[in-house]
Amino acid sequence: MGEYVREQGYSSLHDPFLSDPLEQEEHLMIEELVAKNRSYRRFCEDDRIDMAVLKELIGFSQKSASARNIQPLKYVISNNRETNALIYPHLFWAGYISDWDGPESGERPAAYVIVLRDTVRKTTADMLWCDLGLACQNILLGAVEKGYGGCLIGSFRKKEIVSALGISKRYTPLLVIALGRPAETVRLEEVDIDGDIRYYRDGNGVHHVPKRKVRDLILKIFSDV
Ligand SMILES: Cc1cc2nc3c(=O)[nH]c(=O)nc-3n(C[C@H](O)[C@H](O)[C@H](O)COP(=O)(O)O)c2cc1C
Repeated sequence: MGEYVREQGYSSLHDPFLSDPLEQEEHLMIEELVAKNRSYRRFCEDDRIDMAVLKELIGFSQKSASARNIQPLKYVISNNRETNALIYPHLFWAGYISDWDGPESGERPAAYVIVLRDTVRKTTADMLWCDLGLACQNILLGAVEKGYGGCLIGSFRKKEIVSALGISKRYTPLLVIALGRPAETVRLEEVDIDGDIRYYRDGNGVHHVPKRKVRDLILKIFSDV
């Protein structure tokens, strides 16, 4: 318990501690992390990720919120080349970039986290997907902080992955997190409210991701300061 007190202080916007100059650093840190946490689909495949790092990332997911604290998620983690080669063919990459089938050999992920639902831990579908998003975000933010990056893959052949990795029927795969040292540049750009949100790759291989403007995301504001 004790070791989390300081972290609670960091997270409270009204804590006097946060008016310290450190506040600025902390704030920039999350701003930078969130901005850098893009979906990366091309990696330096030979830049391996230690198993200790992958386990640490699962530690970040362990600390995420979970509806009714059911904790219905389990993980299969791989940095093993043979296992990675079994996973890769079943993933579908960047649906909007129709003339690209996914990263070439040498640019493929160095590691994978397969996020599974443990069917014994009963929760609702909505809660499960909320837990899933939070856990994945923590894993990805952790990866970015360590100089890696990743992509959530929801479009994959589930039966084939289950069979290739010998996963028991108790567990249902929900998402695959592809991880590695990014070997591509991703740029965010702003679009008008009903603008084209399809990501695209330009002639220099830079991946552009259109995001709606912050002011267009806020439906109502009630404020007196
Ligand atoms: C639930 C979920 C499933 C996704 N599935 C895929 C996928 O199957 N293949 C893929 O290339 N990207 C997938 N993505 C990544 C999105 O395409 C990406 O988040 C989006 O283009 C915005 O880019 P950004 O993550 O850099 O903001 C998925 C993202 C989420 C949140």
